[in-house]
Amino acid sequence: MSVFLNGRFLPDAEATISVFDRGFVFGDGVYELVPVYSRQPFRIDDHLRRLQTSLDGIRLANPYGMNGWRDLILQLIEMQDFADQSVYIQVTRGVAPRDHPFPRGVPPTVFMFAQPLVTASTELKRTGVCAVTAVDNRWSRCNIKAISLLANILLRQQAVDAGCAETVLLRDGWLTEGAASNIFVVINGVLLAPPPSNLMLTGITYDVVLELAASHGFPLEVRPVSEAEVRSADEVWMTSSTKEIMAIVKLDGIAVGAGVPGPLAQQMDGLYQTFKQQVMRA
Ligand code: PDD
Repeated sequence: MSVFLNGRFLPDAEATISVFDRGFVFGDGVYELVPVYSRQPFRIDDHLRRLQTSLDGIRLANPYGMNGWRDLILQLIEMQDFADQSVYIQVTRGVAPRDHPFPRGVPPTVFMFAQPLVTASTELKRTGVCAVTAVDNRWSRCNIKAISLLANILLRQQAVDAGCAETVLLRDGWLTEGAASNIFVVINGVLLAPPPSNLMLTGITYDVVLELAASHGFPLEVRPVSEAEVRSADEVWMTSSTKEIMAIVKLDGIAVGAGVPGPLAQQMDGLYQTFKQQVMRA
């Protein structure tokens, strides 16, 4: 498999970095994950803008402009022998002796690879998934897509240990997001989404869902969602680039609504699939 490392495309087995890379030693870096359908990156400019926001958030200069990134990503996509991909992009603060302050004059480490994109099966979409809740104990800069994902990993593992797909995070009695997704709820036919803040990552899928909801006349409120609302919702969804729109039908062992994917989740999934096809054709 061809990967990209520090300006070169090369086989993954030959791509190596120093053990003193600050990404390895400190988790000092940021990342992006871009879904690719039929070799077309989805919403690439939005992903690159979010990468810029993350880099700004950790005060690391962007090594490439929009066009530079786009060219490199398209080259990487062409090198793979599968058409639907998830492209992972990581930028770290480079290689330097271990010391907390930013090193001076050190180039960032830039790494990209593509994996086959695995989206939810038709069967899983039909049944929905279960989730658990947990207290959101992450830091207060969750809008930065940081590679230091230890808190998210520990939280996500709680779902895995319970045989579930996701952990829904609650901070001070309010919904933030999932361990690796955004969370929407439906109450009395109204779609509710927590507003973007430093306590969550604004998903590209989240943005698309809100756009589709607005353009198709879904009753919609972007406002803080309470734990009580999550627990009494008619529908709960998780969204991400890889999970797309996935209904959560059981939360902490209790059925959500009727315990099956609700009508709005199914409608939104349909709209999302159609939107994807349109973008890919354009
Ligand atoms: N993560 N919130 C968190 C904490 C996430 O990790 C993700 C996605 C999202 C959804 O973002 P988007 O819709 O842009 O995928 C929200 C990716 C898929 C990952 O880390 O693998």
